[in-house]
Amino acid sequence: MAIDFGTSYTTAAAATADQVSMIEVENSRYLPSAVCLDDEGELRTGQLALRLAAQRPQAAERVPKRALTTQSQVRLGSRTFTAVDLVAAVLDRVRSEAVAANDGQPPGRVVLTHPARWGERERGLLGKAAAAAGLPEPELMAEPVAAARYYASRHPVAIDGHVGVYDLGGGTFDAAVVQHTATGFAVAGPPGGDPELGGEDFDQALLDLVGRRAVDADPEPWYQLWHGDDDAAMRARAALTRNAREVKESLTEVTLGYLDVPGYEHQFLVRRHEFTESVLDLLDETVDRFLETVAAAGVAPGDLASVVLAGGASRMPAVSDRIHDRTGLLASAVNDPKGVVVMGAALPADTARPAPEQRRRPRDAPRFFTVRNPFDS
Ligand SMILES: Nc1ncnc2c1ncn2[C@@H]1O[C@H](COP(=O)(O)OP(=O)(O)OP(=O)(O)O)[C@@H](O)[C@H]1O
Ligand SMILES: [Mg+2]
Repeated sequence: MAIDFGTSYTTAAAATADQVSMIEVENSRYLPSAVCLDDEGELRTGQLALRLAAQRPQAAERVPKRALTTQSQVRLGSRTFTAVDLVAAVLDRVRSEAVAANDGQPPGRVVLTHPARWGERERGLLGKAAAAAGLPEPELMAEPVAAARYYASRHPVAIDGHVGVYDLGGGTFDAAVVQHTATGFAVAGPPGGDPELGGEDFDQALLDLVGRRAVDADPEPWYQLWHGDDDAAMRARAALTRNAREVKESLTEVTLGYLDVPGYEHQFLVRRHEFTESVLDLLDETVDRFLETVAAAGVAPGDLASVVLAGGASRMPAVSDRIHDRTGLLASAVNDPKGVVVMGAALPADTARPAPEQRRRPRDAPRFFTVRNPFDS
């Protein structure tokens, strides 16, 4: 089993003898990584934690992954937890549902992914949280290495060849170059990116776009929305932020969306091309950081075997378009980039497709590992 404990969402995948597939937790492949203390003093996770957090933000930690690296203690309501406890709560939720889905059998091997920039200290804390969640001695794997392994299980990458990994998650953008070596995959050069730039900035861009129109129509409700500090205003803001994220995600599939804004009678129309124009600067930031990372690894962009897209926000069609416009590189086409890291981590060793000139297996006996992802093209 592999777990990708993300800033906003956590995913899990299971590998059997010949295939790997994602595990559903609370009927979804994406478990919100939030934790919140409920009325009974219990730590809640997933969707329930998000719903509780909307009403009692002071009892919630929405991004325990960030807390793990920045603070040792976290105050939730009247109680204090270690950041490790909060991460353990999320991992324990995944472990218990995965074991239940596997007829009560615990996994034989556990892989946890982590950002490539994490050092000994952060990896040690993740290991501690895993142990507290009943997952002793997990194997730790850098997220871009996992993404490269997934790519290489489907496309040949020559030994000594490199892939670029562009991972746009909820709260962070991570870039890395990964080299295929004789023994596996390894990060080449310093990992890059921007720990403060992620899908949430794209939600904000959509809100800004609509906000300008709302203010033109009638500034009063918009002002009330952002300046009220009572419960109703807080809930209205939470609902608007959620709606904005949903509209942003829907623009990946359809070319227009409608945003409900509390206090306004009509919905606001947002066209995909307007949204795309409003986020070009953000996209250019990510491409700049990506190209800096490739340069720091001493690799020419044209020598990359591919740009592997990872992270939920890489689903936006504007991401691969902008990478292509700016670099001429074609990004790998996957419909579920969020699953790329966890599926790659769950793959057993030795599932990379050999490059044609490096095939060792006889031509008539190909044996490729099946990666079962119904949402993948
Ligand atoms: N269809 C979609 N179109 C656009 N964005 C999407 C889509 N689906 C998910 N996202 C965005 O992906 C982001 C979450 O990405 P992901 O789950 O990869 O992050 P994470 O791994 O939890 O975070 P991080 O990598 O920062 O630790 C959110 O901003 C979400 O809105
Ligand atoms: Mg991620």
